Amino acid sequence: MDHLREKYLTAIADAADEAALEALRVQAVGKKGDVSARMRELGKMTAEERQVAGPKLNALKDEINSALAARKAALGDAALDERLKGEWLDVTLPSRAHQVGTIHPVSQVTEEVSAIFADMGFAVAEGPQIESDWYNFDALNIPDHHPARGEMDTFYMAREEGDNRPPHVLRTHTSPVQIRSMMDQGAPIRIIAPGRVYRADYDQTHTPMFHQVEGLAIDRDISMANLKWVLEQFFTAFFGTEVKTRFRASHFPFTEPSAEVDIQCSWEGGTVKVGEGDDWLEVLGSGMVHPHVLRSAGIDPDEWQGFAFGIGIDRLAMLKYGIPDLRAFFDSDLRWLRHYGFSALEVPTLHGGV
Ligand code: DAH
Repeated sequence: MDHLREKYLTAIADAADEAALEALRVQAVGKKGDVSARMRELGKMTAEERQVAGPKLNALKDEINSALAARKAALGDAALDERLKGEWLDVTLPSRAHQVGTIHPVSQVTEEVSAIFADMGFAVAEGPQIESDWYNFDALNIPDHHPARGEMDTFYMAREEGDNRPPHVLRTHTSPVQIRSMMDQGAPIRIIAPGRVYRADYDQTHTPMFHQVEGLAIDRDISMANLKWVLEQFFTAFFGTEVKTRFRASHFPFTEPSAEVDIQCSWEGGTVKVGEGDDWLEVLGSGMVHPHVLRSAGIDPDEWQGFAFGIGIDRLAMLKYGIPDLRAFFDSDLRWLRHYGFSALEVPTLHGGV
């Protein structure tokens, strides 16, 4: 028994892995193992011999089982230590830099414009970019064959062969949202409508898709004076400085009277600066909404009147942020986007100075 004990305890202490340990367990205390074989011999002994040998064999079996368990635990700890060495992680290392996107100047300026007009009580309205020609033209007092249709470089949607209805268009301006909003909400109404518009045109200051923001205020006694005040407030807030404006008589089919508005700027040093100098830059069209337009939208022009205006958002962004070429706005060049883009956290607010 001493020999068995010596043999197995040494072997268990030397076992290199769990497989070796399991082989030793079978060999020592398994059903056909050495200790079990000795136990079977107990039957052949005298009662006195058995009383001495029985407890000793049981004690040996227990001792071997505990040695197996202890070695197994030790092997497990060693394996874990080994794994931890390989999987060690330095949590003090700086993290990998990850690329963060930027807010496009058009989005930024749209938010700025919305914040300023929201403060003056204008809600934001939207309309579809694929528009029927009634909303884009007729309802705005631009009948078929009116020269303004030709001047707009309109994109027409394809039609099925044999379909003679007027084709839908990619809206050429945000003005159709005036009609949709008045039909939806009636009067009084005060909205702006920012969004994409489309014209077949391409050079340094024109792209086939660009952005406008439409403004509309209808009530019982809205006048040209209100229009002027609202626009002056807007430019001053937007550019963060007093900006002189110049209203020039003009013509749009959907307003009467109509005015184009220029803002004061200087071209000194080859770059444009708004709010100084004695040059002028045209930035928007506006006027008193034409009675035909009100009537198209189901509003009685004998009871209601108001102003409308349309501003180019991209043009505003170029002026405010000194961006020389409009085409780059839509090239998706990452270098441009990182240079001119805004942080997602720079949310424009009036109290933050827009
Ligand atoms: N829709 C015009 C354009 O795209 C801009 C415009 C002019 C809008 C006068 C208006 C307005 O609301 O009153 O050229």
